[in-house]
Amino acid sequence: MSEQTTVAQERAWLKENVGRHALHPMNDPKDVLKNPPPIIEKGDGVYITDVDGHRMLDCQGGLWCVNAGYGRKEIVDAITRQANELAYYNLFPGGANAPATRLGARLIELLRPEGMSRVLFSSGGSDSVESAFKLARQYWKLEGEPERIKFISLRGGYHGLHFGGMSACGGDAWRRSYEPLVPGFINVESPNLYRNPFTSDPEALVDICIKLLEREIQFQSADTVAAVIAEPIQGAGGVNVPPASYWPKLREVCDRYGVLLIADEVITGFGRSGALFGSRGWGVKPDIMCLAKGLTSGYVPLGATVLNDRVASAWNNEGPRSVLMHGYTYSGHPVACAAGLAAVDIVVKENLTENARVVGDYFLGRLGELKEKHRVIGDVRGKGLMIAVELVKDRETKEPFSPVDSYPGAISEACVANGVMLRTIVNKFIISPPLTFTKAHVDEVVRVLDDALTRNKY
Ligand SMILES: Cc1ncc(COP(=O)(O)O)c(C=O)c1O
Repeated sequence: MSEQTTVAQERAWLKENVGRHALHPMNDPKDVLKNPPPIIEKGDGVYITDVDGHRMLDCQGGLWCVNAGYGRKEIVDAITRQANELAYYNLFPGGANAPATRLGARLIELLRPEGMSRVLFSSGGSDSVESAFKLARQYWKLEGEPERIKFISLRGGYHGLHFGGMSACGGDAWRRSYEPLVPGFINVESPNLYRNPFTSDPEALVDICIKLLEREIQFQSADTVAAVIAEPIQGAGGVNVPPASYWPKLREVCDRYGVLLIADEVITGFGRSGALFGSRGWGVKPDIMCLAKGLTSGYVPLGATVLNDRVASAWNNEGPRSVLMHGYTYSGHPVACAAGLAAVDIVVKENLTENARVVGDYFLGRLGELKEKHRVIGDVRGKGLMIAVELVKDRETKEPFSPVDSYPGAISEACVANGVMLRTIVNKFIISPPLTFTKAHVDEVVRVLDDALTRNKY
């Protein structure tokens, strides 16, 4: 049998078996079998290629994570070198390894402006959120306020899907099948400019949302609230960019009641929003930051929970509770940390943050032109290279497409067929490409999307 036949047989086998054994997250398993997604085989730069040889611009950046782009030799070499030298060693009692020590120092150096001083590694975003909750509770116990156990989060927020993170998620789709939630999690309104029942005035909306948060803290009794958690820009909830005054006011309210502020920077970390960290883009210093995704540009799994001096210093006190009874086998995995060092270096040295800002502004402008042309586009919003295009059945009423409507899926399928991988969440196209995207790539995406919307008028 020729080599080519073997390759063809292997590809046919893959297509027959996709979704048969390995479950795909956030999917109904039946749908994966009925409508199998393209099997991505290769990545180079900002392009991905499926097993049929179909090459596409990756507007998802993997899943908001391949910030440095595909095929970066520096990251691949760092992974290979580290795996050859030491594939694994732990950080549990009696253990240490060099890459975790180095990446810890590198992150703290990068986060000096925020006054960060300690980092706990884990395996991904959900882990980093879970660690933030547990360390926040332990902080308050060490500080002699053991009743501060509650967490307040925002509607539309997404914080991963472990039990704590899921309980903080601000959308019922993420929670319904897995309830009951963890006690002590409370959700309040977020400043969603496109869809809110209050006002279209951004400043008035900020004031309303901040007031509602403050009332909730008072209602719960501030001395029972451990922390507020929020994304600097909500990602999975639909790329909801808060008005610029929201985060500074959020910080003020937390300070007024002594509550910790946790920034879930799993998406916004490492340049995506046009600032190196999303909270830095709003001029705000959180107490705890959750990082993952761009930390290794998605090359291998890694999460990190970073504590500022205020929080970390609680562990300077002597006491029976000061042992960190939390962490994972893969906390500080040497191969992941080596990848992190290389990926972070690329983002910094190539100033991908600035590229995300410039190309993101251009992208928003070009998509704004499409909105003028196609009434089915209700809203275009974003910051840096995290952008959403929201489709509506009626611009005046903003009636959204529902999960059973096939129109948004048909548009993204047309884009995929024409070389642009777009992620669809119900009625929104989510755009989060590698931060190496150029204006020429943007023009190509806009051309393909324009064509799909023109050929498939709603
Ligand atoms: C803001 C935010 N937090 C947490 C997570 C969970 O990360 P992971 O899927 O790596 O567990 C995500 C994932 O998209 C996220 O967007």
